[in-house]
Amino acid sequence: MRYKNYQNVVILDHPLIKHKITRLRDKKTTTAEFRNLIEEIAMLEAYEALWDLPITDVEVETPIETCTSPVIDGKKLAIVPILRAGLGMVNGIHNMVPNAKVGHIGLFRDPKTHEPREYFCKLPENIDQRLVVILDPMLATGGSADAAITSVKEHGGNHIKFMCVIAAPEGLERLAKAHPDVDIYVGNLDRCLNDDDYICPGLGDAGDRIFGTK
Ligand code: PRP
Ligand code: URA
Repeated sequence: MRYKNYQNVVILDHPLIKHKITRLRDKKTTTAEFRNLIEEIAMLEAYEALWDLPITDVEVETPIETCTSPVIDGKKLAIVPILRAGLGMVNGIHNMVPNAKVGHIGLFRDPKTHEPREYFCKLPENIDQRLVVILDPMLATGGSADAAITSVKEHGGNHIKFMCVIAAPEGLERLAKAHPDVDIYVGNLDRCLNDDDYICPGLGDAGDRIFGTK
């Protein structure tokens, strides 16, 4: 499903994802189940987001004959979780593309200003030659995603996608406008942000729920 007139936004409209997001929202869901659900949703989103993953032909012998057939060129994919919560999505992608390289961008929202602060950035080499998929379950104001995408671009990334589980309209609009060249994949579009810039109804603090820190 598209969002408004933005050609770069895909909202995944699938019962499997909807069901898992409902489980994520439930405050009674345990840390272990929460982590598992985030991983599974990332895997389902990857099916949609990685439609143009580079492939390469190999020769394979079937029981009938020899043929050439495509395999994924996983080394051309870089996945970049935004720390901390994005880490929860990494295994979901790795289950599909085990050879994907992993970079990390450390960002946190300043508790007062809600502006993102970068504290770490380490990306795979030759980032300009890779499809870079940035991962973060939550797109709230869009500040963190915007900063992460800008940082990857400054390092030479030029083929970038962004995957999240839940987005607020405010953040989605901001990101889609700021980076029209970046395809954005969203598990569910929620209603709005509250006064603390948390997503409503949302699922709370994704990092804390993945790592059990609250
Ligand atoms: C959360 C979330 C996003 C960010 C979204 O991270 O994982 O990175 O907030 O908010 P935004 O769209 O308004 O920028 P947080 O800053 O809580 O850090 P954490 O993952 O380390 O808990
Ligand atoms: N970060 C989160 O983890 N949850 C929100 O609702 C907003 C930002």
